[in-house]
Amino acid sequence: MDYENFVLARALHVVAIVLWIGGVAFVTTVLIPAIRKSQSPEERLKTFELLENKFGFQAKISTLIAGLSGFYMLHVMNAWATMGWWIHLMILVWFIFTLVLFVLEPLFLHKWFHKKAQNDPEKSFFLLQLMHIILLSLSLLAVAAGVAGAHGLLPL
Ligand code: HEM
Repeated sequence: MDYENFVLARALHVVAIVLWIGGVAFVTTVLIPAIRKSQSPEERLKTFELLENKFGFQAKISTLIAGLSGFYMLHVMNAWATMGWWIHLMILVWFIFTLVLFVLEPLFLHKWFHKKAQNDPEKSFFLLQLMHIILLSLSLLAVAAGVAGAHGLLPL
């Protein structure tokens, strides 16, 4: 029974990751460059917020499911003390997104960025793009390391 639940949690984990990191990839490699090309610096952040807001909810739900299923698997495997670096990397990525989506964004990031964008729209949007590229790279590394680790290629 524990094994079946574990497999279910793993399937759920992967579905949540696909929805979440797939969305981050779209925002980073399609949405942001398209906005950069088509909008004046003053309009960029407004357009970005309009389009990205919709993804925010999806990102929050999938981050939550990925975290719950991930910690549940650790509990079933009883692997708290023996987690390899690749599990630490997954948790780090999850923690950064959780912090940004649930704490920093609503508390001050949103307002701070708005102000910054008014003063220097060109630089602000570049910073936004850079942050997305860094987060996406780290996330893809976690996906690759997660699969390699879960299938025995990396030490637990
Ligand atoms: C709280 C955060 C997380 C925890 C506790 C967690 C935990 C786990 C555990 C325990 C496994 C199964 C390992 C095994 O079967 O030996 C796993 C698999 C996996 N995780 Fe995570 N994870 C988390 C977040 C993430 C994130 C953020 C990503 C990607 C960006 C990710 C991607 C994966 C992938 C791709 C697999 C492999 C699935 C497979 O090949 O079957 N996880 N995770």
